[in-house]
Amino acid sequence: MSSYLIAPSILSADFARLGDDVAKVLAAGADVVHFDVMDNHFVPNLTFGPMVCKSLRDYGITAPIDVHLMVKPVDSLIPEFAKAGADIITFHPEASDHVDRTLQLIKDHGCKAGLVLNPATPLQVLDFVMDKLDVILLMSVNPGFGGQSFIPSTLDKLKLVKEKINASGRDIRLQIDGGVKVDNIAEIAAAGADMFVAGSAIFSNNDYKAVIDQMRANLAQ
Ligand code: DX5
Ligand code: ZN
Repeated sequence: MSSYLIAPSILSADFARLGDDVAKVLAAGADVVHFDVMDNHFVPNLTFGPMVCKSLRDYGITAPIDVHLMVKPVDSLIPEFAKAGADIITFHPEASDHVDRTLQLIKDHGCKAGLVLNPATPLQVLDFVMDKLDVILLMSVNPGFGGQSFIPSTLDKLKLVKEKINASGRDIRLQIDGGVKVDNIAEIAAAGADMFVAGSAIFSNNDYKAVIDQMRANLAQ
């Protein structure tokens, strides 16, 4: 995998022709499929579950699928998503009574595991589970909807998490989700992110490749 990963959020894809749209964004150069699962309970919106993930696999999507669980509770969905073809599963600590156990459950099912921190969630929750984390995802918007603006204080938060990752000596991806655009991706990378979720920025433009190429060009500078 390249050092920077672009992960289109299919929340902004065309659900009526999802397989084709996901294939199109991958052909345009995306690295990972970001799969936003919302339950109208933990967040005020409703999307899709393991059946849709499996349908993408059955359709022939082979790229890594990164499942972002915005659901409460989380544990019962983990075996289902692992069976449905997920590669990475991340969840919000507020949604699990036993964060360490949930991380272990994900790993026991053969997936990479990660925690997602909302804009106002402090970093201390990371401290005693660093050894179980493959990914840390910082939300740069409040979860639930695409198309929101990047919250600037996330840049300082990214720097602090990057320091924690460096101090751990572990190979942990630092993912950012919400309001990522062509114009701010370089600044976000400079703060420490190496995996970029982008929904509306990519899917609102008919030319997905043009957007992804421009993101990579800005990351290279
Ligand atoms: C928000 C989701 C995001 C969202 C990002 O709750 O987790 O993945 O779709 O969308 P944009 O890039 O439009 O902010
Ligand atoms: Zn997401």
